[in-house]
Amino acid sequence: MPLDIIVGSQWGDEGKGRIVDLLSAHADYVARYNGGDNAGHTVSVGDRIFRLHLIPSGIIHPHSVGVIGNGVVINPITLINEIRELRDAGVTINPERLQLSYAAHLITPAHLALDKAQELSRGERKIGTTLRGIGPAYTSKVSRQGLRLSSLINPESLSESLSTHIREINKVLVSQYDAEPVDVARTIEEFRGYASILSPYIGDVSATLGAALNRGRRVLAEGAQGTLLDLDHGTYPFVTSSNPSAAGALVGLGLGVGYTERVIGVTKSFQSRVGDGPFPTELGGDIAEHLRGTGEKPWDEFGTTTGRPRRVGWLDGVLLRYAARINGLTELALTKLDILTGLEVIKICTAFQKGEQIFEYLPLGLTDLSHYVPIYEEVKGWKQDISSARSWEDLPKEARAYILRIEELCGVPIRLVSVGPERDQVVEIN
Ligand code: GDP
Ligand code: IMO
Ligand code: MG
Repeated sequence: MPLDIIVGSQWGDEGKGRIVDLLSAHADYVARYNGGDNAGHTVSVGDRIFRLHLIPSGIIHPHSVGVIGNGVVINPITLINEIRELRDAGVTINPERLQLSYAAHLITPAHLALDKAQELSRGERKIGTTLRGIGPAYTSKVSRQGLRLSSLINPESLSESLSTHIREINKVLVSQYDAEPVDVARTIEEFRGYASILSPYIGDVSATLGAALNRGRRVLAEGAQGTLLDLDHGTYPFVTSSNPSAAGALVGLGLGVGYTERVIGVTKSFQSRVGDGPFPTELGGDIAEHLRGTGEKPWDEFGTTTGRPRRVGWLDGVLLRYAARINGLTELALTKLDILTGLEVIKICTAFQKGEQIFEYLPLGLTDLSHYVPIYEEVKGWKQDISSARSWEDLPKEARAYILRIEELCGVPIRLVSVGPERDQVVEIN
């Protein structure tokens, strides 16, 4: 069955948007299944750069239909603004081209206020969230007090449920966090406006995709965040509140396991993390500056959503092996190989050490990751520009050795190597 899942195999920002855009050329539907506007997916097409937060990256191809599944949390104003920006950039958006699941949950101003208040109260132990209300919105969902997108369809019940929801969170904001309460009447007014714009897009995503798959159409599931930020399988508690890993695609779109064909793990050629939490291979100094860039280039390592400088480090083979297992990866797409050009030596973490003991696998998943010291293997770097490489033979032998070693370490074949942000800057490996 032709469902392909694209998943981040690290801490997000691996270049998922760029790979989704590439593979969307052959997809009929592209579907976001988790997270919300905490995501920032960048697609470069010629001199235009699209930065998508909620709408699937495949929407840029005129033939593909974008879908947002039940696993996503939606801030309606971000979505409306994104629709406007895409239209301004010449992308057609209408209910034939974009469908939103009736069972996706809404992010409200109360969730945003709570995210901020909770981060402030954590002090030194903050998670470093994107402050988009993600955690509180999923908390409402799990505690069965959330507002589904379907509530936008009926204005009377919308006012009532919004009012109850905001009053409840206001109690917590005021009594527990000494924060300002959210204005109930204004929020209801705003949401009535959003409802009239978004209602025509709301439908049954599971039914739409299921029927399409049964007709042999190709569906690409686009993950947000990454495996190491997964609520269950990531570096808890420094995680997001959804399941970015591949299984999340099935729950988050309402599709059965049997539909899946390929699970593609997007992997950056080095490691990056934005926000707090353990990062065993983190680097400082000149090499970190080389990997991060200065912020001048669009692809430099500064958050697409928050603008924060990303922490960077060497590729972590232990964590990549872990991601291969959690997701059942069938292949990898390796991105940003061009960024390693010019380094004398490239290191890969192949195992961790704790006391006298060496670990190639983690005995308790990602728990207590901060107690492990990485063991590195070195490969030789290369000097020549690889951004115009289009075939395996075009790559320097040192780059090929690095690619082969990554495959060997995680046991998953690398099918795509990206050597720049543009659509054609890719090497396919068969
Ligand atoms: P995502 O969240 O996983 O979609 O990744 P982001 O869009 O947040 O960050 C990836 C950045 O790297 C974007 O600016 C991409 O345009 C850029 N990018 C992706 N692949 C490559 C590549 O192979 N080389 C370079 N130089 N940039 C790339
Ligand atoms: P894309 O899809 C990188 C991180 C935040 C924080 C943690 C929890 O572009 O790869 P949240 O706001 O979700 O409660 O924050 O998760 N985070 C991301 N890091 N890329 C992302 O998305 C992220 N979305 C959330 O920085 O550490
Ligand atoms: Mg991103």
